[in-house]
Order: sequence, then structure tokens, then C-alpha cells
Amino acid sequence: MKHLFNKGKDSTKPTLLMLHGTGGDELDLLPLAGMVDGEANVLSVRGNVLENGMPRFFRRLAEGVFDEEDLIFRTKELNEFLNEAAEQYEFDRDNIMAIGYSNGANIAASLLFHYQSALKGAILHHPMVPRRGVELPDLTGKSVFIAAGTNDPICPPTESTELQSLLEKANAEVTLHWENRGHQLTATEVDAASKWYSSL
Ligand code: MLT
Repeated sequence: MKHLFNKGKDSTKPTLLMLHGTGGDELDLLPLAGMVDGEANVLSVRGNVLENGMPRFFRRLAEGVFDEEDLIFRTKELNEFLNEAAEQYEFDRDNIMAIGYSNGANIAASLLFHYQSALKGAILHHPMVPRRGVELPDLTGKSVFIAAGTNDPICPPTESTELQSLLEKANAEVTLHWENRGHQLTATEVDAASKWYSSL
């Protein structure tokens, strides 16, 4: 997958896996990585799917309606890419913290839904429930921060609480942070995510 890797100063820190929103690329969330942890490795990936020229991590049939077959395929592809990247760049495969926004948060949530060891944790900015009616792996020891907007037209509040409860039922530790805003990524939620990360 197209990506960039910046080696951090401190190899004991998690590797931050940056996953952009629809129409973004691997450069978009680099400032966010610096705000969360300036000493960690950063692996920033570009989604392999194009929707009218806009990169995404998996196909959708309509706004908010995911192509489930493609989601499953792309989630596996990303998980396998993480295995390869950990070998190539010599970082700890078991210590990856995903940071995703919107479509990037959705594929991060999908990694958690499908693979027990894909991630150590995740910061999900405005995620949706990636799939319903599936049994999640045991996520004991995984920490997840969800930032959601009370007026988010793409991810209604009930979807954020549903995601929280599905992850908690799988034994993940989940913090849900609310902004009185819409789907946008706000400075205050990034600040809250960064405080949460520092408290781990
Ligand atoms: C998605 O398709 O992943 C969500 O609707 C968020 C978006 O990218 O607009």
C-alpha cells in the first residue's frame, strides 16, 4: 500500500498508524500524529480504493452504506500490510495505535472487529459501526478512544454509542468523547485524544 514511515526517537512507544478520511492521503494526518506523540514511529497509509478520484480504504455503495465484501477484503489487506511493514521497518507488530478520521476510523474499527492482534488500540475520530451481526474477537487489553459529534449527520450519536457498546462487550476499554459539532475533526477532540493517549 502507498505509505510513508517516519522513524520515531523512542522505540518503546507505539507505532502510530494514520488513516485518512475520504479524499485524503498519507500526508493529511501527519500534524495529528505530532500532536499525539512526537516521539513515536509514524506509519501513514493511503487507502487503496478510489471513489471519483478520492482515495478511501474500502468501497461504499452509498453514503453510509458499506460494500461489506470489499470492507472485509480491504481490512485483511491492511492487516497483512501491517505485518509486512513491521518486518520491513523493524517495529513492534503488537504495539500499533491506529489514529483514523471518518473512513480511516471505519477501517481501524474494522481491524478491531476482525483481528484480535491487529492493533493495540485506536483513536477513532467520527467512526461508524463497520459491520453488524458479527462476533468480535476478545479485545481484552485494547484501549479505544472515540470522538463523536452530537450533530454529526454521517455518524448519528446512536451509532457512536452502539460502537462503544459493541467494543466494550468484546472487553475493550472505551472512552467516548463528545463534541457539540458535526463530522469535522476539531482541535478540542484532538487535544482530548492526546490527553487520553498520555494517560495510557
Ligand atoms: C465512510 O464511507 O467510511 C463514511 O461514510 C465516512 C466517509 O468517508 O464519509
